[in-house]
Amino acid sequence: MDSIHIYGGNLLKGETRVQGSKNAVLPILAATLLIRGTCVIKNCPRIADVYHMQNLLQELGCMVHWAGSTVTVDAAQVNDNRMSGESVTRMRSSIMLLGAMLGRMGEAVMSYPGGCVIGKRPIDIHLLALRNMGVEITEEDQMFTARALHLQGTQLSLPFPSVGATENVLLAAVLAEGTTVLENAAKEPEIEALCGFLAMAGADISGTGSSRLVIRGVKELHEVKYTVPADRIVAGTYLTAAMAAGGSIFLEQAPAGHLAALFKAVKEMGGSITINKEGIGIDILHRLKSLPYLKTEVYDGFPTDLQSPMMAVMALAEGQSVIEENIFENRFRVVGDLGKMGADIETVKNKAYIRGVEKLSGCTVEAEELRGGAALVVAGLAAEGRTVIKNRHFIERGYENICRDLRDLGADISIG
Ligand code: EPZ
Repeated sequence: MDSIHIYGGNLLKGETRVQGSKNAVLPILAATLLIRGTCVIKNCPRIADVYHMQNLLQELGCMVHWAGSTVTVDAAQVNDNRMSGESVTRMRSSIMLLGAMLGRMGEAVMSYPGGCVIGKRPIDIHLLALRNMGVEITEEDQMFTARALHLQGTQLSLPFPSVGATENVLLAAVLAEGTTVLENAAKEPEIEALCGFLAMAGADISGTGSSRLVIRGVKELHEVKYTVPADRIVAGTYLTAAMAAGGSIFLEQAPAGHLAALFKAVKEMGGSITINKEGIGIDILHRLKSLPYLKTEVYDGFPTDLQSPMMAVMALAEGQSVIEENIFENRFRVVGDLGKMGADIETVKNKAYIRGVEKLSGCTVEAEELRGGAALVVAGLAAEGRTVIKNRHFIERGYENICRDLRDLGADISIG
């Protein structure tokens, strides 16, 4: 069965290691297309979205091999510039390959990635930026062709600091003619990771970590050996698991530097966080107080990807709270299933109004997307009785082995 079974009510205790970052490694795998040689990517999470990116790279002619959590990508021979509609629509992040294909081959033919349950997820900002770099885009049916015989450096400011659009500009600009100055760039840690990878390959990028990136085009990039940083959203998810179920856990190799907004919320709710060079500890020794107001923002505000897991925590906290979702237009999908478990949550437009309850009751619920599915796991750990979460495959898109990791932390959880 494609499900997860949880017997809730255990306090969490113990430690587990945090996997490599999904949202860092996907654009980095796309970037290997820019290198006419072999790249070695260590600490690569074994998740569905990475396997899908592997298939896309292989469709384009790359050779991809796994050894444990190390992926080797040989992009010396790239012999295609088309990605099939099915491939692209199966995973939105395939749009990352657009910038890389333009940088490598000067042309890309692909379908619009389309939306998903959390939002329409257009790519207008991506296309605006690439047109600024001399890319011609023609559309036919659901496919479009992007062509630029010579990518030109440019000066542009993004209308919104889109993570994906920032990544596509970086991937197109590193081998372009001239200099690209990108204002209002996204500042998420995954952008920093991509800049780090590209710099290791010989790219000339300044402003890393800021909203103003300057990329001076170079002639070519060289092979890289790279280690993927830990996944801040997976780490944050496991911290919300402890917040909901109670207990004391330690996350090894967790990116403490990227979770300040969550730490602030933990402390305000009555939990305590300890940080050392090995990772992050959290102690939840009593029922948390609710946070009156929480809004999602671009980095370094509270991350939208932890909004649903945090909602599961707030459903059990003492008092009332409001969550305002400002990044995606439809990211309250999990509210219905949390309600089935006994949560008291109402939504009006982009706000969720939560009245904390003393307990949740296990039942059968259905994941509809990745982070909503993770929120149901968090709720199931705290709920009384058995929770069965259907559609485990949504959760496996981003969590390498959430059952293994949470069992390390004392949870009674298994795949069904
Ligand atoms: C990345 O998505 C992440 N995905 C998302 O994580 C994350 O939630 C998001 O950044 C925000 O941090 C990956 O890195 C693979 P955006 P991305 O472009 O690049 C709108 C997860 O759960 N927009 O910053 O798609 C868009 O519709 C996933 O791991 C446009 O309008 O995020 C959205 O409302 C979910 N036009 C907002 O901007 C565009 O051209 C943020 O999108 C591009 C984006």
